Amino acid sequence: SRKIIIDTDPGQDDAVAILLALSSAELEIVGMTAVAGNVPLRLTEKNARKICELAGRPDIKVFAGAIRPLARELVTAEEVHGETGLNGPQLPEPTMELQDQYAVDFIVETLMKEVSGTITLCALGPLTNIALALIREPKIAPRIKEIVLMGGGFFEGGNVTPTAEFNIYVDPHAADVVLKSGIPIVMMPLDVTHKALTTAKRTQAFRKLGTRVGTATTEMLEFFERFDEEKYGTDGGPLHDPCVIAYLLKPELFRGRNCNVTVETASELTMGMTVIDWWGVTKRPNNAMVMRDIDHDAFFALLLERLGRL
Ligand code: BDR
Ligand code: CA
Repeated sequence: SRKIIIDTDPGQDDAVAILLALSSAELEIVGMTAVAGNVPLRLTEKNARKICELAGRPDIKVFAGAIRPLARELVTAEEVHGETGLNGPQLPEPTMELQDQYAVDFIVETLMKEVSGTITLCALGPLTNIALALIREPKIAPRIKEIVLMGGGFFEGGNVTPTAEFNIYVDPHAADVVLKSGIPIVMMPLDVTHKALTTAKRTQAFRKLGTRVGTATTEMLEFFERFDEEKYGTDGGPLHDPCVIAYLLKPELFRGRNCNVTVETASELTMGMTVIDWWGVTKRPNNAMVMRDIDHDAFFALLLERLGRL
């Protein structure tokens, strides 16, 4: 099985991504690190634990990381995710404990300890924890197998500003560190996730599983999709973060291109914009596999089948 660290800011779509990972024997979750993003850190770390308990996995190690972005003030998204970050289902307060260790230290320690090239980082929120780990111990960079991240957008534009996607916008400086790290990166931008729509039929299919996880998933998606449905006028909202985990399980569901990606960190107008050289018009070296298309039917079939195992 493949060893992963999930860095996350749950978030209903983060939660579904975590459930997908927990239900997949191909993946071994070495640890889960929470970051401030959709809601403040004290909520994201708690939500991560709630999801582990929902899946019957209180043994997963959950760590709290950065309380705020590297340079900018924290921007949150309660209007999308609700006050708790996980509005929708009534999940009990978690009883499993948060680990004492700082998430950034855990990432560094794990990468230095495990066999080089065996750990994949799955980034589902702002990239603050991962950037801090790279700054603290640059030796981890060549030891990381791959970073698969949800973030950015190109032809699709942004979802927080006309040009910026939320995860990159919240901490553009961290994204800059990660993109310049030389680590192999796979990027799931809005161009992919806006094609993974939670139609009513797909959303209700989870409830029909007749399990606690299935019901909670439907309730999360019902809450989560209302925002984007209204905004984009689509049937269902985009299910962003599970694309990262689905890629690890079935990379053939995605199509993209190797290109150069840089992040705007100076202009207030386009702060957090991912500048993706899709047509190779610069001579800048490729630093990311940027996905653009997804087999969304197969993606939802995978989700349903896997969550049905929990
Ligand atoms: C990203 O922002 C968050 O609201 C979601 O969890 C996802 O990671 C989408 O822009
Ligand atoms: Ca997220």
